[in-house]
Amino acid sequence: MKKVDVVLGLQWGDEGKGKVVDVLTPGYKVIARFQGGPNAGHSLVFDGDGFVLHTVPSGIFRPDSVNIIGNGVVIDPVILQDEIEAIEAKGMDITGKLLISKKAHLILPTHRMLDAASEASKGKGKIGSTLKGIGPTYMDKTGRNGLRVGDILSPEFIQRYEALKYKHFGLLSQYKFPFDITDYELKWFQAVENMKRFTFIDSEYVVNRYLDQDLPVLAEGAQGSMLDIDFGTYPFVTSSNTMTAGVCTGLGVAPSRVGKVMGIFKAYCTRVGSGPFPTELFDATGETLRRIGREYGATTGRPRRCGWLDLVALKYAVMVNGVTELIMMKADVMNNFDTIRIATAYKIGGNVTTDFPFECPDDVEPVYTDFPGWKADITKVRRYEDFPEAFQNYIAFIEKETGCPVKIISVGPDRSEIVIR
Ligand code: GDP
Ligand code: IMO
Ligand code: MG
Repeated sequence: MKKVDVVLGLQWGDEGKGKVVDVLTPGYKVIARFQGGPNAGHSLVFDGDGFVLHTVPSGIFRPDSVNIIGNGVVIDPVILQDEIEAIEAKGMDITGKLLISKKAHLILPTHRMLDAASEASKGKGKIGSTLKGIGPTYMDKTGRNGLRVGDILSPEFIQRYEALKYKHFGLLSQYKFPFDITDYELKWFQAVENMKRFTFIDSEYVVNRYLDQDLPVLAEGAQGSMLDIDFGTYPFVTSSNTMTAGVCTGLGVAPSRVGKVMGIFKAYCTRVGSGPFPTELFDATGETLRRIGREYGATTGRPRRCGWLDLVALKYAVMVNGVTELIMMKADVMNNFDTIRIATAYKIGGNVTTDFPFECPDDVEPVYTDFPGWKADITKVRRYEDFPEAFQNYIAFIEKETGCPVKIISVGPDRSEIVIR
């Protein structure tokens, strides 16, 4: 019997999940998103074209794939529709290829306003949210007030929408936050109408039945483990469980049905938005990583903060996710570096720790191990044996420290720029 394999990010998001899912999709029947929403921006590059997906799973461009938006996802119909239009502009009809869980929650126009109002009220302490309404929508989900995709078909949909909207108006008036949703609301209702051409499913039954029929399923994570609501750098996190456990609650599969857990990391680190980032670089090296790695948000366009690879955080993420294999991305960005650093511990107030702390103080000092750079262009490499020795040493160190094999190495943004061991 097949299990659900998982691809998820081990850092602060933007590890390259979209690319990897697109590469792996030919080996799977079903690709399913299990959490998050349009705060995600997953980039795919193939045939000289680039795409950014926010809600639609990254398997959508592969023939014969079934793509499921699971119950754990939150959906903004307007953003979903824009995405579908961009995909279909490539000449594909995805009506039969995209299935949406009835239990996925809807992001209302007022959820977006509440997100903006909450962030504005926080001043310097703001989270740096993508302002897509993620936090307020998950609050309504756990507060048992939310609207779900299945509700769209209810004759009482409009009344329930209005009731929730007026509740939000009350909250917004307390924030004294000026807003106008007139245009967005109009688009929102049109987009909700358009969603009806897709099949609304009980994704727990659909996913488990695919597995029963021995058809492989791949779960696609959004964000990263260090943004997880429970284990991330709280409160500078997103509002969902971005980790393996989220696959079970976000798709309705039992833990015993989870198979491989493929954890993705960049050969360095990035973070967009506020919050702790112990290995962050504020110097020319950080600038170089941003420039060569084109580290600008796929959803918001914001410059990403850049720094060295952090094994304290990475090992923590490997542990809480039960990672069985690693996937390393973007090492090509450091092709010309003389020295490459990896943090293996933190010094906090004179004590050295290899455990990720409850709170990361501003003066946390990473303890680094230095590696000589490989000083070669690895973008054309397609077999592991052809990597320079210095590069193989870098990988061997990460494997030894994490106890996980690095099975896939991405050497450029394109679908073809990949080495599978
Ligand atoms: P995701 O959110 O995890 O899917 O990642 P993003 O798409 O937000 O960010 C990853 C960025 O790196 C995108 O611009 C990708 O096109 C790009 N990318 C992915 N893999 C590689 C790689 O191996 N090398 C380089 N140079 N760029 C890559
Ligand atoms: P992908 O799937 C990187 C960050 C935001 C902010 C915090 C909370 O592309 O890796 P939210 O909008 O969820 O309330 O924002 O989380 N964030 C991401 N950072 N990649 C993402 O997704 C992110 N989704 C949210 O920048 O710091
Ligand atoms: Mg992204």
